[in-house]
Amino acid sequence: MAKKTSKRVGRAPGGGEAPPPAKWDLSSSVPSLRLITMPRDTNNLGTIFGGVILSYIDQAGYIEARKHGPHRWVTVALDKVIFHAPVHVGDIVNLHTQTIRVGTTSITVKVFVQVERFATRETVDVTEAQMTFVAVDESGRPTPFTNVP
Ligand SMILES: CC(C)(COP(=O)(O)OP(=O)(O)OC[C@H]1O[C@@H](n2cnc3c(N)ncnc32)[C@H](O)[C@@H]1OP(=O)(O)O)[C@@H](O)C(=O)NCCC(=O)NCCS
Repeated sequence: MAKKTSKRVGRAPGGGEAPPPAKWDLSSSVPSLRLITMPRDTNNLGTIFGGVILSYIDQAGYIEARKHGPHRWVTVALDKVIFHAPVHVGDIVNLHTQTIRVGTTSITVKVFVQVERFATRETVDVTEAQMTFVAVDESGRPTPFTNVP
């Protein structure tokens, strides 16, 4: 789904704002979750708190997991989170998901977070993460899931 078309971004020479990160090609992907950021979600720097982004990533990943069956899906691992660029108040956040591994009771999902900047409408790749969900029964024990797309 997502292809990198340019190099990873580092700190801008001499400090200041880093250039826009690599563009992911998500043009053929429908976001699993969309939202607008609010002032209540900011950190002491005035940008959106990373923990809030992680919460949205968890929700988007769960929506992807649910495509594999209406089970009780629990998050067992959240891996390889990369915050490429800050999220600002008023940004429209699009979370795209892709199942990258299907096991017996677990699946692994890649989450790509892009924002549309409030003022400029520029699209920026802000965060990516990988998550594993496990289908569990009513006792919380792993159970094979039923519905593989
Ligand atoms: C998720 C949980 C049920 C797994 O229990 P477990 O005894 O480790 O289960 P198993 O060893 O039988 O593994 C079950 C599946 O999870 C996978 N798994 C277990 N630990 C994992 C890890 N750290 N990373 C990735 N996958 C993992 C296994 O590979 C297996 O997948 P498969 O059936 O597709 O091959 C248990 O760890 C748990 O309840 N964790 C807490 C979940 C939670 O509260 N999450 C936060 C809120 S949703």
